[in-house]
Order: sequence, then C-alpha cells, then structure tokens
Amino acid sequence: MKDKLDKILGFEVETTENPDFGDYSSNVALVGAKEKGENPRKVAEDLKEKLEKDVELGRIVDKIEVAGPGFINFFLKKDVLLNNLIQIGSEKEKYGSSTLGKDKTVVIDYSSPNIAKPFGIGHLRSTIIGQALYNLYKFLGYEVVGDNHLGDWGTQFGKLLYMIKTENSPELSIEILEKLYVEFHKEAETDPGLEEKAREWFRKLEGGNVEAKEIWQKCVDVSLSEFDRIYKRLGVNIDFAFGESYYETEMRQMLMDPGIKRHLTKGEGGATIIDLTKFGIKTPLMFLKKDGATTYATRDLATIKFRARKWDPSIIIYEVGAEQSLHFQQVFAAARLLGLVGKNVELIHTAHGLYLAPDGKKFSTRKGKTIKLEDVLDEATERAQKLGEKSSGPAYAKVTAVAVGIGAVKYFDLMHSVGSDVIFDWDKMMNLEGNSGPYLQYTVARCNSVIQKAATFKEPPQGYCDSLNSFKGVSSKGEYSNLNNEEMLMLRSLIRFPEVIISAVKSYSPNLLCNYLYDLASKFNAFYNKHKIIDSDQEKFRLTLTSGVGQVLKNGLHLLGIQTPERM
Ligand code: ARG
Repeated sequence: MKDKLDKILGFEVETTENPDFGDYSSNVALVGAKEKGENPRKVAEDLKEKLEKDVELGRIVDKIEVAGPGFINFFLKKDVLLNNLIQIGSEKEKYGSSTLGKDKTVVIDYSSPNIAKPFGIGHLRSTIIGQALYNLYKFLGYEVVGDNHLGDWGTQFGKLLYMIKTENSPELSIEILEKLYVEFHKEAETDPGLEEKAREWFRKLEGGNVEAKEIWQKCVDVSLSEFDRIYKRLGVNIDFAFGESYYETEMRQMLMDPGIKRHLTKGEGGATIIDLTKFGIKTPLMFLKKDGATTYATRDLATIKFRARKWDPSIIIYEVGAEQSLHFQQVFAAARLLGLVGKNVELIHTAHGLYLAPDGKKFSTRKGKTIKLEDVLDEATERAQKLGEKSSGPAYAKVTAVAVGIGAVKYFDLMHSVGSDVIFDWDKMMNLEGNSGPYLQYTVARCNSVIQKAATFKEPPQGYCDSLNSFKGVSSKGEYSNLNNEEMLMLRSLIRFPEVIISAVKSYSPNLLCNYLYDLASKFNAFYNKHKIIDSDQEKFRLTLTSGVGQVLKNGLHLLGIQTPERM
C-alpha cells in the first residue's frame, strides 16, 4: 500500500509506530516549510486541504490529519483493509511476495564453517540469518544464489597434515582432527621449528603433492558429512559449496595478470601486499605470505572475481561475523582497486554479533573447548518436548518437538538485530508467553484450531473469503462501523506485511520481520482473549480474520526458516 500511496502523493510516506498517528505519516510539510522559512503547521494544513480533494487518494485514504509541528498522517479506509484481508485469503502462501527483484541476482555467502573443526555455535548465526535472507530475497523475486564458502584451504592445513603424518592416526574424525590441531599449538609453544614444518606441508598441498592432497581430501570428507547432518537438522539447504580450495586456479591466474600485478608491493618481512591507504584503510591487505603462500584474503578476492563472472550479481552479501570487519573492508576495497567487480555491484558485509554465554562473557572456544551445535540442538528438542506439558497437555510428539526446538533456536537468533551480540538464554528462547518461536508457532496452531472447530460445526472455510459483502454484521452500507478496536489493529497490521518484508531485505535485518510477527501475534491473542469468534454474530468475518492472521504468521515464519506445526 505504501508504494501506491507514494505514487499518488509524489512523496514518500513512513509507516507509523503508533496507530493514533494513522497508518502512514509524512514530514514533507516540515521539510518544505523549513527550506522556505514558512510556518510548517500552515504548510501542512494547506497540503492536507489540497490532498483531500484528490479523488484517487480518496479511494485509499479515509482521513488525513495534521499532527504535532506539521506531520501529515494518513488513515487507510476500512474497505481497503478488508479488501486486503480478502487478498490474503486468495493469495495464501504467496501473500507478501513481489517481483521487485526481477532480473536481479543476489549472491549470499553464508554458513561457511571451517573444515576439520566441529560445527560450533560460532557458525550458527551465519547459517540462520543467511538462510532467512536467502528466503526473503527469493520471495521478492530475486534470483538468489547461496554459496557456502567453506574454510577448506590455508596454512592451518599444513599444521594438520604435519600432525596427521607424525602421529600416524589410523582413523580420522572431527574430534581427532580438532585434538591434533590443539596439540600442534601446544607443541609449537616449546618447539618453534614446528611452524616451519607446517608451512612446508601447506606448500606441498598448494604445489599439488599427491599425498598431501589425499590426506586433505579425507579431512574434507569427514567434515562435510558432519556438516550435512547439521544442515539437515536445521532444514538448511545451500545451493553451492565451492569452498576456498576451489579458487586455486583463479588465484594463480590473478598472480599472472599484469593489471593486478601492478598493484602488488612488497611489505614488511617480505610479504606481498596491496596498499589501501587511499581507501582510508591503514592496514594493507596481505596478498601472499613471505613464503609465497596465498591467504584468506587472496582467496576472497579470487572468489569475488569468480562470482561476478559466473552469476553477474547486483549484490554480494557476506553473512559473516563482525570480527571480520577489517578483512571485508580490505577485500572490498582491493576488489574495487583491482577491478574485479563492476562499480554497480554492491558488496555487503552484514557483520553479525557474537553469541555470548548466559553470564554475558564470550563462549570459550580456546583450548579446544567449542560449544558444539549438535548438543545445542539436542537440548532444544528435549526442552521443546516438555513445553507441551507446560501448556497443560502431554509432552509434544517428537516431530512437533523438533519443529518447536529448532524453531526456537532459529527465532531467538533472528529476533536480535544482526549487529548485536546474543546472550544465550534458554528460558527466553522457549518462553511460550513472550517473544519467541514457540509463542508464534503456538499462535498459528491456535488460529488453525479455531478454523478447524468452525469447519466441523459450520461451513467449510473456503466460503469465508468470497467478498466484502459477505462480512455480515461488520458492514452496513459500506460503513463497517462494527469493527472493534482489536479487529482494526489486526487489519491495519496485516496490510503492512509486504512492506515489512521489503524493509527487512533492504536493511538485511530479518529481526524486523520477527518484531512484526510478534506484534501481530500479540494483537491476535488480545483479540482472542477478549472476543468470541465462533457463534458470534460476526462469525464469518472473525474467522476470516483469524485465518488471515494465521496465514501471515505462517508466511513470515516460513521465510525465517521456521516450521509451523498444525497443532500444538
Ligand atoms: N570460514 C570463515 C570462518 O569461519 C568464514 C568465511 C566467510 N566467507 C568469506 N567469503 N570469507 O571464519
């Protein structure tokens, strides 16, 4: 609706926080008056008067009000709101989608765990936020490519190869690999020669040594099967997993490219660097280490080049933690300098915050103590099973518990703004009465159950959405005077769903969608607790409203990657 309104008005309106200030509001009068040195209130009043004569606007807007120093507030017409409710009933799971991103491609780099390490809680945010962004962009009609940039290359593999060879471990598992890595660092503290040995092994790997490649491949295979198990549990599906190792050839080509070579200089200690001071970045990008080995940054540059060529994206999003901010500043600047992507390609680092332990301190990942994601998921499912008892029933069946447990973990992550840290808190995550995944899923199940009850006793739900006129008891000669406050608030909220999705996408912030869904669910529950639905004299309308709310909650949760059990 905002789009439509903007077009008719010729200026942009904002959605309002407070329903007393209308559905949309604008400060054009304030801005305009300031520029011309006029009285803003007067400018607003004049504009209001003019707008009230606009026939096209009159079809959408019921009332225009001037508020405060000169804001202009617009209240939507009730039949526009009711028509939207009918539209939800006919568009169903497509409601909120659009073709905004037609002909545009977005590449999303997400999850990207490191080989030979267990999938820790550290990669959870990237996986969950990345997948939500993926779904949201798709819903808006973009061509979306998900790429799991696995950490499967780099000098750390030299360390592993050295350890595997010296320890001669017969069998490799993630646990063993992790242990070997930790042991390497312990031993290296007293034996400085080890680092050189590790570098040697990585050189062998980069040089294509068969034995090195074979052991490396085993490490990759062991890790991938663990990662796949986790992705399955999370319901995450990433289109590609080229991984860092894929870019060996691309990197070698870059090293020979005269256009790139002319930007390379020798830095301190003999490393090859790219100076980025002209971009305001003091730390140069390390392109090659002093022994000629490529770096994480070299691989990211090659990756950009590859992605630009393969998919011709208009945006590349890196769903990676804030601790890598400098790295991405360097990589983005260097990519521009070297001309690896077109000027119009946006490069975005979302820079998400960390998970913190319940005491607010960092989860200790040093000394080999990683919080394994699988343990978190197991506990989430167990806790979810018990939630059934809390809502005065039996424990949830396993399928429901899985949906609720995993949903709780995902929602808890997504409800925090991307940039902020997340303090891990089981009680909040599982809270059936507050802003949580289980609360929203429970509200959907409540909507389902109302509709089901009505269906057994009355007519089937399909008939409810036929036309505006069928809302018996709500309308009288198009006046809809009988809508109560709770109903109005829900109708006004429902019409915003498509706009919320757009703003969540534009700011890479799935938490905006979470806020919206929580608000809508709370409005529904307030309505449910106060008014009769079945057997009320507005039963048809209230059932349609219930079904519309249920549908929008479902659409929103599915975009966030969260399942909605039919009943709970
Ligand atoms: N593997 C990296 C890590 O765990 C994340 C990779 C992110 N993506 C990228 N293109 N650098 O820290």
